[in-house]
Amino acid sequence: MSEISLTQNPAHVRHGSNVGQPLTRRDGLLKVTGAARYAADNHPESMVYAALAVSSIARGRVTALDVAAAKAHPGVIDVMTPENRPPLAEDPDAKNHPFMFRLDVLQNDRVRYPNQPIAVVIADTLEAATEGAALLAPRYDVEPARVGLDGNEVFTPQGVGVGNPPNDSHGDVEAGLAAASRRVEATYETPAQYHNPMEPHAIVAAWDGDRLSIDTPTQGLAMAVGRVAGLFGIAPEDIHIRSPFLGGGFGGKGVMSGPQVLGILAARMVGRPVKLVLRREQMYGPVGHRGPTRQTLRLGTAGDGALTALAHHTRTASSTFDDFFEPASNASHTLYASPAIATSHDGVRLDTGTPMFMRAPGEATGSLALEGALDEMAEACGMDPLDFRLKNYAEVEPTSGKPFSSKALRECYAQGAERFGWAARPLQPRQMRDASGLLVGWGMGTATFPALMFQAEARAAIKSDGTGLMETGAQDMGQGAWTALAQIAADGLGLDIDQVEFRAGTSDLPDAGIAGGSGHTATAGMALHDAGAKVIARLADLATSAENSPLFGAGNAGVVARDGRLFRRDDESRSESYADILARAGLPEIEARGKSAADPAVRNAYAMHAHGAVFAEVKVHPELGQIRVTRLVGAFAAGRVINPRMVESQYLGGMIWGVSFALHEHAITDRRSGRIMNANLAEYHVPVNADIPSVEAILVEEHDPHVNALGIKGVGEIGVTGTAGAIANAVWHATGIRVRHLPIGLEGLL
Ligand code: MOS
Repeated sequence: MSEISLTQNPAHVRHGSNVGQPLTRRDGLLKVTGAARYAADNHPESMVYAALAVSSIARGRVTALDVAAAKAHPGVIDVMTPENRPPLAEDPDAKNHPFMFRLDVLQNDRVRYPNQPIAVVIADTLEAATEGAALLAPRYDVEPARVGLDGNEVFTPQGVGVGNPPNDSHGDVEAGLAAASRRVEATYETPAQYHNPMEPHAIVAAWDGDRLSIDTPTQGLAMAVGRVAGLFGIAPEDIHIRSPFLGGGFGGKGVMSGPQVLGILAARMVGRPVKLVLRREQMYGPVGHRGPTRQTLRLGTAGDGALTALAHHTRTASSTFDDFFEPASNASHTLYASPAIATSHDGVRLDTGTPMFMRAPGEATGSLALEGALDEMAEACGMDPLDFRLKNYAEVEPTSGKPFSSKALRECYAQGAERFGWAARPLQPRQMRDASGLLVGWGMGTATFPALMFQAEARAAIKSDGTGLMETGAQDMGQGAWTALAQIAADGLGLDIDQVEFRAGTSDLPDAGIAGGSGHTATAGMALHDAGAKVIARLADLATSAENSPLFGAGNAGVVARDGRLFRRDDESRSESYADILARAGLPEIEARGKSAADPAVRNAYAMHAHGAVFAEVKVHPELGQIRVTRLVGAFAAGRVINPRMVESQYLGGMIWGVSFALHEHAITDRRSGRIMNANLAEYHVPVNADIPSVEAILVEEHDPHVNALGIKGVGEIGVTGTAGAIANAVWHATGIRVRHLPIGLEGLL
């Protein structure tokens, strides 16, 4: 086994054979053969089934439920309503910290959004539970639903969402606009979008006295334990959650939702294990979504195309009872140099479920509007869109003035443009047609996402046979955490990945932090890296202090771990295996705990973001207005690449979500009833293979000596940013029409 040298590795980081390798998913075989056990695949003995009944109104009160009819149905065991729901130790409407979402768990008869749970039917079979729920035939006092971004109570969102102040201002935007030789004002609208992972939220819950065992998909095991412990008044140690695989998360499984808690309550009520799986339409309310936005951009430029001012205002919506908002304007903090930048948000309260994290919350929506407005200004200046972006390239973070910890965006622009063939683009729209007469357009957008890190812990051990064990409660929602983190773990122990048992996905393991904010690899990876370094240091202590070791006297700094052995740095012919070191010491294993936490001093000194450039080609039917994306090229720089195959997949997946954002996803609300009219996969469209002819992701080399010791930024969400804007701009280039109302459909072009 030879060491590989990765050019993107910071020189001070020791690296082994695993990081940087394009390994296939270690869980891939399990998944494609159906052997991977998802939450709803579990059937503990004596398990019964729960089905939700959800509201068919958006606002009002439940006045009657035919519980008797449901109970009379064969197989129905019990019906849980606000009248008999077991007590909770904590108010589900309490909010003790910003990441605590208020839940609807049958605390009263109020209906505050469509598809809100109003009862749970528990039965011997799924069919009986489902039929029982239908027999409840609820009656309501209906109140008028508050829908739409106009005409409802306006509020200023406070420090929720992704935790920024709602309004931010640097320099004098009005003066910058007044002094500008060109001004653009444009308003972009994006719709509400709903999470549609293949696996809906599901739970199998089993009580044993006051001990609770749960199978459920979650992006944050430790937070889920904390939430359940609080709600049920039991000790965290008595809660065991297994979440080995998630069938997609996208932010919607970031925190425990009301339906998951109802599954636990149902199990308590009937004294048997209970399975509760949401039906697809039940995903459209109680488990979060992306709120709609209306974003107004005001830009000014001097005669040479340099920005003089950039103002970005977002109106969005939250629920009537909680305060998460889509912080879209924050996208304008980072990307383009301008002497004056102002960002602001306000919100309206609607009768919807509370919005929450969804695929680059804020950045996805904000970048769509920003990239669109930038393109409009490039057009006004008569400049090529890429030249215009280069003209306004931010050498330091514009709002903070901080240097970037690294920023290879120029290289992304250059490599993406080269691969796409951007140089051949005509400046004016409606200049290109393909052989069949379709209009062809090329557009681009800049991608960016912050390099976030959270706190995490890990445990490392080396066993007497020289193999390793690494544990952290990481969550793999399909992004490849089991593989990428195991690669980091193996390098941390100086072993091949096949010699390391990597445990993740359950709550009894050390807290790996949340799999969100594109920060999981950096966060959990740094904890594994730290644990590995500590256990190797202990092993080195044993060896270098033993007189009969070939490493005697080398000192910790004088040995290097590789291939299951410690070597003297000054004389690599002298080495000793881990097994021999432990045998001499008479130890069955040696272990250490590690942790990761962002260093606040370093975090404060630098702006830390991943960047990218996305280029899109669309073809539009000149008479019918049908739009197809025919080519996408994205070039991304996000620090060190742990596994190029996984990283490429993350970028491709993100870009496909960008196609989805630009052309497909749209939750449609009936303005009279407040109900969502397309709460199903037949009518809520996401792209299929036929929608995605050609997508390419380029991994641009980037060294980041500051972001963390491994140089990792994060790749989960950046792909969706830039892409939707690139497609919208390509549609303009094909047709000469700016469609500012998303998703872009043929009705916008006719
Ligand atoms: Mo992501 S929206 O942080 O799961």
